[in-house]
Amino acid sequence: MAKIALGVTSSVSIYKACEVLRGFQKAGHDVQVIMSRNAAKLISPLLFNSLSGHKTIVELFEEDHPWSVAHIALAKEVGLLAVVPATANIIGKFASGVADDFLSTFYLAVEAPILVAPAMNEAMLLHRQTQDNMMKLRAQGVDFVEPAKGYLACGDEGWGRLADPDDIVRRGLELLKKRVSLQGKTILVTAGPTREYLDPVRFLSNRSSGKMGFEMAREALLRGARVILVAGPSQVAPPAKADLVRIESAADMEKEVLKRFPKADIVVMAAAVADFTFAERTGRKIKRQDLPEALRLVRTMDILKALGERKKGQFLVGFAAETEDLRANAGKKIKAKKLDFIVANDVSREGTGFDADDNQALLIDAKGHATETQKMSKRELSRVIWDAIEASLGKRR
Ligand code: CTP
Repeated sequence: MAKIALGVTSSVSIYKACEVLRGFQKAGHDVQVIMSRNAAKLISPLLFNSLSGHKTIVELFEEDHPWSVAHIALAKEVGLLAVVPATANIIGKFASGVADDFLSTFYLAVEAPILVAPAMNEAMLLHRQTQDNMMKLRAQGVDFVEPAKGYLACGDEGWGRLADPDDIVRRGLELLKKRVSLQGKTILVTAGPTREYLDPVRFLSNRSSGKMGFEMAREALLRGARVILVAGPSQVAPPAKADLVRIESAADMEKEVLKRFPKADIVVMAAAVADFTFAERTGRKIKRQDLPEALRLVRTMDILKALGERKKGQFLVGFAAETEDLRANAGKKIKAKKLDFIVANDVSREGTGFDADDNQALLIDAKGHATETQKMSKRELSRVIWDAIEASLGKRR
């Protein structure tokens, strides 16, 4: 049994929130309702009190209830926040970080999955601003149950009708299930570039930002896994709940990964490990006039290949950065490195891959089954990748 927060805002379809509440309860979950002030004008919170068995929260500050603190406690407790129905206003507030009532403040504190079921007039739904807000939230990992076409409260026929309550409940339950889908698993994720130093000032590196690996780690944490994150230098903030191991060079990465490999169930090698390092490294800055004409480089170890050779039941996920023949090259890497799964990126495309916020990938499993994803945010892609990895894991069992 999980605790579900049901956010209710002011659309005429508000009465359908009762059905959604009942649906979650029938599946065995406990529901706490949070209403916006305008929603409380449409339906009395008392109705939700008796349906849910809990006092409905409307105000952030109330004399007899210190909800202002409660929103943090409740945010930690819930397994899902479902906002049904969601107005253009609440979607706009979520997208811009406005926190001026309980629900919008609570939204910022929630770490659990968030499901939004919009309901509004067609013109408002299709307005550029609403669409931009929804796109922004999707990119941040918020799920939507798309509104349907049909008869609207304003008398128009069109898009904007709240989705079917059964569909909303079904999607909510799916999200709840995912929260524990990797429970009990130890997942080793590598991310970011490595730096190969020539001297204390100069180094060899690459364009990796660490974003994709961090999103893979974040999503695994959301699904209940223990995550060890071995990360190279990156400007992006790593997910707070991962056990973070900071490294700089390919040799450090090799040492830390090999040490932790025996205890891992799944390894996701998203790091862009330098393929070469300097044959010699000095402790003092080399003077310009002392630098040789050419510097000698030596190969680093292919860490993923080494893991493939040593694996005892671990599920190995590699990444492939390619500029041509994506499928053929990624397919070769799966075999050569004895992988169970590969995520191949075409890094020559504009706006995806290295250092971009978006990505598009070809996912290939050990049997050669390939799926091409759409272009989407790295956060959204991390979910698609984990869904595919979990499907492959399920088949292997
Ligand atoms: N990798 C690794 N150790 C290295 C180099 C790469 O573990 N020294 C891993 C990466 O983390 C990635 C995968 O191998 O998961 C593929 O990396 P990529 O750079 O695409 O391929 P390479 O194996 O270097 O092959 P090539 O440069 O020929 O495409």
